[in-house]
Amino acid sequence: MKRMRVLAAALLAALMAVLPGCGRTSATPTVRVGVAVYDQTDTFISAITQHLEQMFQEEEQRLGVKINLSVADGRSSQSVQNEQVDRFLDLGCDVICVNIVNRTAAAVIVDKARAAEVPVIFFNREPVEEDLFRWEGAYYVGSPGAEAGRLQGMLVVDAWRADPAALDRSGDGVLQYVMLEGEPGHQDALLRTEHSIQTLVTGGVQVEKLESAAANWQRSQAAERMRQWLEAVEEPIEAVFANNDDMALGAIDACLEAGMTVEELPFIVGVDATAPALEAVRAGTLQGTVRNDARGQAESIVALSRALMGFEDVSEAVELTDGKYVWLSYTAVTAADVLSQAKPVGR
Ligand code: GAL
Repeated sequence: MKRMRVLAAALLAALMAVLPGCGRTSATPTVRVGVAVYDQTDTFISAITQHLEQMFQEEEQRLGVKINLSVADGRSSQSVQNEQVDRFLDLGCDVICVNIVNRTAAAVIVDKARAAEVPVIFFNREPVEEDLFRWEGAYYVGSPGAEAGRLQGMLVVDAWRADPAALDRSGDGVLQYVMLEGEPGHQDALLRTEHSIQTLVTGGVQVEKLESAAANWQRSQAAERMRQWLEAVEEPIEAVFANNDDMALGAIDACLEAGMTVEELPFIVGVDATAPALEAVRAGTLQGTVRNDARGQAESIVALSRALMGFEDVSEAVELTDGKYVWLSYTAVTAADVLSQAKPVGR
């Protein structure tokens, strides 16, 4: 059985480490890991992938095994991704990590993995619970979208409380906003949209939604939407809630193209804390973001993989909720946070 084979490799690696003269030779045991992502051009997913590549490489040293890592790009097609998973299983992968294209389609992958007895770690795109619970060897690593929504909402509530006039351009006591949503049906799009606005309402800010649309996490689609809204909407857009940073940057692009100065921009907030978004916070065009912990998610995926391949106990490697979920927290990032980090070291 696969777990036994990997365990044997782990034992062999441990033995070689204690025997004199047994360094990493041609006899170094090998394990295989397959990573399938929904779309490699996605900014946040490509950050996770880069961390995974680096961290699995570091694991080789640590565990004394060769790790054959394959990364496959599903190019937003579930059937392409299913074939990639088949190929990983044919190749004899010891664990597979899946950023599923269609989060309602996980049952097929769970069943294939179960038949091959290869554990599967889903990440970032959360399968429906029923599918994840089909087999004990299926797990999920991610961050709770509702928390991102709440933190994003709080960025706006805090700014409103500190200086309402700076946001309320029309002076009517109501915050007129637009919402740029991620992919329809994605848990983060649904939860961030709902909880950001709910936080404003419970925080005592009166709101009016002028427009909302899905821009599928993409900067160019968000810019296109924002262009249309700037032309069509008569009232001033006072705030832009974007479910992720790339879409927030798209909104900024459209506003600047329309001739707005930095001071005239609406209060724009995103999620992810990608490098270009942090630059925009520094430049004063983006008012804040929420860190989506790409590094932490990659670390958890690597730790869980290590455990599922028999190198460590799962309970020591990660903290599991309901025996299935590894949850990573979000953190709010304000301009003050970014500027304080930018201070030259040693001064
Ligand atoms: C979200 C992230 C988005 C996008 C999406 C892909 O968590 O905020 O930027 O990467 O995942 O599933």
